[in-house]
Amino acid sequence: MEILIRPDVNAVAQKAADILEYYARRGKTLGLATGSTPNPTYQELIRRHKDEGLSFADCRAFLLDEYYGLPRDHEQSYYSTIRREFTSHIDIDDALVKSPDGTNPDYQAAVEQYDQAIIDAGGVDIQILGVGTNGHIGFNEPSSSLNSLTRIKTLHPQTVADNARFFDSEADVPRHVLTQGLGTIQRARHLMLLATGEGKADAVQALAEGPLSAMCPASILQWHRHATVIVDEAAASKLVNTEYYRYTDANKPEGQPH
Ligand code: GLP
Repeated sequence: MEILIRPDVNAVAQKAADILEYYARRGKTLGLATGSTPNPTYQELIRRHKDEGLSFADCRAFLLDEYYGLPRDHEQSYYSTIRREFTSHIDIDDALVKSPDGTNPDYQAAVEQYDQAIIDAGGVDIQILGVGTNGHIGFNEPSSSLNSLTRIKTLHPQTVADNARFFDSEADVPRHVLTQGLGTIQRARHLMLLATGEGKADAVQALAEGPLSAMCPASILQWHRHATVIVDEAAASKLVNTEYYRYTDANKPEGQPH
């Protein structure tokens, strides 16, 4: 796992956008995430699209997760959120921006169709990830099976509380979600996790330096062949091995892309 520590949110977004640009230029399949953390990265990619002609016309995209039972046109559905924050501002084909169908009464069919759609598309080339304060990725809460596929999950009360800020009240936060599993996520060829702010410092320390454990779903990055973690100084503040991370970042072998 490569850990890149950057001074602030903007520098994290620049680095993440550099990596995503590499994939966009090759027309690759992007795994997108919602949550507030990737938004500065999306804004930078939108800027590069508008100012520098960076094109996503040959890309397709898969979202990590979706609230279950929320209509797609609800402003907090992840279907709507990713379009509002990112994909409607670039030239990706909207029909190729896929998310789990949280409106399908047969959720088992919905999740199986979603995993199959990812496989049929040839898999995800780069998966963007945020991390919850409790170490969740997507909506894989602590104790999630390390090999799980896309499925329905009940949100942890901490996640309901964390996400209440996006709704009128905590009571309005859906309790169920469809999320790519930890096994699904690990099929992506490159995982890129972003974390910013002091509130993520414990989760970052646990995922990078704690044990590989279902109690910290993000720790699956330790098991992946190609994982990049990009954090600001605040989110890095509880890491122990930082001298080494900074050293390897500054002494990357020539020609190694990302
Ligand atoms: C949400 C999403 C995750 C996201 C996480 C952190 O619940 N399902 O994909 O990474 O919470 O969100 P934020 O980036 O807003 O802190």
